[in-house]
Amino acid sequence: MAPATLLKSSFFPKKAEWGAMRLVAAPKPVTVSMVVRASAYADELVQTAKTIASPGRGILATDETNGTCGKKLASIGLENTEANRLAYRTLLVSAPGLGQYISGVILFEETLYQSTVDGKKITDILAEQGIVPGIKVDKGLAPLAGSNNELWCRGLDGLASREAAYYQAGARFAKWRTVLSIPNGPSELAVKEAACGLARYAAISQDNGLVPIVEPEILLDGEHGIERTFEVALKVWAETFYYMAENNVMLEGILLKPSMVTPGAECEDKATPEQVANYSRKLLHRRVPPAVPGIMFLSGGQSEVEATQNLNAINQTPHPWHVSFSFARALQNTCLKTWGGRPENVKAAHDALLLRAKANSLAQLGKYTSDSEDAEASEGMFVKNYVY
Ligand code: 13P
Repeated sequence: MAPATLLKSSFFPKKAEWGAMRLVAAPKPVTVSMVVRASAYADELVQTAKTIASPGRGILATDETNGTCGKKLASIGLENTEANRLAYRTLLVSAPGLGQYISGVILFEETLYQSTVDGKKITDILAEQGIVPGIKVDKGLAPLAGSNNELWCRGLDGLASREAAYYQAGARFAKWRTVLSIPNGPSELAVKEAACGLARYAAISQDNGLVPIVEPEILLDGEHGIERTFEVALKVWAETFYYMAENNVMLEGILLKPSMVTPGAECEDKATPEQVANYSRKLLHRRVPPAVPGIMFLSGGQSEVEATQNLNAINQTPHPWHVSFSFARALQNTCLKTWGGRPENVKAAHDALLLRAKANSLAQLGKYTSDSEDAEASEGMFVKNYVY
């Protein structure tokens, strides 16, 4: 047996070392506190998302800011007044039978509170058609300091109280659109900022009863090929889902609004709908958990026909999610031109909108053919510096 002195000096710490030894011998366990966060609206959010993501239906986006709506009105020679904006939005939402193809309409704040000249609330017109009213809640884009001329999306300040008021006014889903530019990067900073902002917004929206549409738009502008768009999209969606998890966002109660994976608008190598579909599907399968109920693609400046053809190609195989559309330009373009601000053209403009809505409804089901499309709908739209 070892002498007592040896035992004492080699095995037992000196009194002054007791604290340090305790730490080594019994490190404090690292605990992960599992806060189970459930919005009071959890069931309703799931139900709303399911209603929007219903077979053969998608979203009509009419949430342009007053500035962007003004540009649309100017293209048909109308002044950018509140009355003209209301006339245009009334035209869009009152197309007879729209609810067969459209499950949700995204409104700008001004329209959410407006009534038609006949005194009918816009939200009531939507309800009669079985269409869920949604609301753009972001406050637009601003230069991202410290980045490569990139942008960030504002609007978190006061968001909870604004959303509570929108819910009272009848809105049941929300939209927050941020953008990423491939020619300008995107930088790590811009991607992280976009993802954090979207995740905070999504959590706040769920707390206030609104299903968040999560939209990191990867802009079409640029000469890059489809591979580069794919690579950037993988990164952007990885970060976005990481921060949504950090913010305890309930995936069953969100909708995604991605860009389709296409080459840049100025790329010489154009992609076929099958190529766009292959890359877009690969992106979704690698990044989106099946708990997400709906993927509602944006059109991003593609022509009306192109956007529909690509959606149809994406839907040639089954998915765990409802894969559909949330188009503004690719639903409105021909309708706006046909209307031209003239009351006598309302019927023709409604027909033009319904034609696109039906084509996209068929594309959601993977059953669309472009045989009867006219040249107008095949024209591309302005892409650069498009602001919502
Ligand atoms: P586009 O379909 O015109 O790209 O619109 C997308 C959008 O975010 C509108 O809400």
